[in-house]
Amino acid sequence: MTRPSPPSSAPYATDPHASARPLLDVRDVRKTYHLPRGQTLKAVDGISLSVMPGEVLGLVGESGCGKSTLGRCLLRLTDVSTGQILFEGQDITHLSERALRPLRQRMQMVFQDSYASLNPRRRIGDLLAEPLKVHPGPDGHKRSRTTITARLRELMDLVSLPVTALDRYAHEFSGGQRQRINIARALALSPRLVVADEPVSALDVSVQAQIVNLFADLQARLGLTYVFVAHDLAVVRQISTRVAVMYLGAVVELGETDAVLHHPAHPYSAVLTAAVPRPVVGAARAAPLGGDIPSPVARPAGCRFHTRCPFVQDRCRAEEPALRRIGPSHSVACHFPLAEG
Ligand SMILES: Nc1ncnc2c1ncn2[C@@H]1O[C@H](COP(=O)(O)OP(=O)(O)OP(=O)(O)O)[C@@H](O)[C@H]1O
Ligand code: SF4
Ligand SMILES: [Mg+2]
Repeated sequence: MTRPSPPSSAPYATDPHASARPLLDVRDVRKTYHLPRGQTLKAVDGISLSVMPGEVLGLVGESGCGKSTLGRCLLRLTDVSTGQILFEGQDITHLSERALRPLRQRMQMVFQDSYASLNPRRRIGDLLAEPLKVHPGPDGHKRSRTTITARLRELMDLVSLPVTALDRYAHEFSGGQRQRINIARALALSPRLVVADEPVSALDVSVQAQIVNLFADLQARLGLTYVFVAHDLAVVRQISTRVAVMYLGAVVELGETDAVLHHPAHPYSAVLTAAVPRPVVGAARAAPLGGDIPSPVARPAGCRFHTRCPFVQDRCRAEEPALRRIGPSHSVACHFPLAEG
């Protein structure tokens, strides 16, 4: 199948390995919700980016900026309004559920709430066996009971849980252990891509590090590719190859993790990473950004960040900045970036 060329108008995002084929290619994706009283909410508002095989893309931004919606769009857990999503070079944007089925094995999601994702009335072994029963094995045939049992043991080993966990129920585990079970379930069919939506946010800090380490270890061992949503920049720093900073439905900065965290080019990223003077003098560290997030129903004209930006100028109110390259692997959507390259 030939790979369609990107739309010329799309602000094409950075791609450190331009010659290799992205595992995931997102082209000007939009997701609009139609609310009562005729309002429209642009949860994802024109995002283009690519994720290379073996890469970990960290997705950060304030609550409500569209991280989960984008994550769900990537895996076609929700339909996009417009735009294109290519997985392994194949356009999956409008594939039927039936056509998506074989692809679903190769892309999985891990959610924040470890408990809600696990049916409390079923044994862990049964929950994990389910996808193995539904989907055929690599040879195209139904997996035998012996193969499934062996795979379940292997999965427990991968996430460092005892095999006896398979006979127990979700409520018998701690939050961290439940998240290990969710990870095991996501890995059951040997996916290539895992979208992890704040998988450690609900856990105790001490447990968070263990689960992030597990993600990192699995990524290295299995050559996985992650889109990793996180509020905590320490988590992003630890695990991500690149970072995409989102604000009001759009990516405002995209670049290698160290560059974005140490030399942020967008004023919003700078506030998030606290690397440059704060917009509000004396602002508390816990509330790093002045002003409320504007409603996504009434997004500001021009630059979407202009109502809160300490560096706003007239041009910012009139003209929306496109995401443009400022370095080989660094893009920013700002008329007056704080850093180049
Ligand atoms: N099904 C829906 N119907 C209407 N609006 C929705 C729906 N799902 C999400 N939204 C809205 O879309 C916007 C983006 O939501 P989303 O959950 O993607 O944000 P988020 O970045 O994941 O936030 P958080 O960090 O709190 O998880 C929000 O304004 C949210 O209220
Ligand atoms: S375009 Fe203007 S308002 Fe927007 S982030 Fe850049 S400086 Fe701030
Ligand atoms: Mg979310």
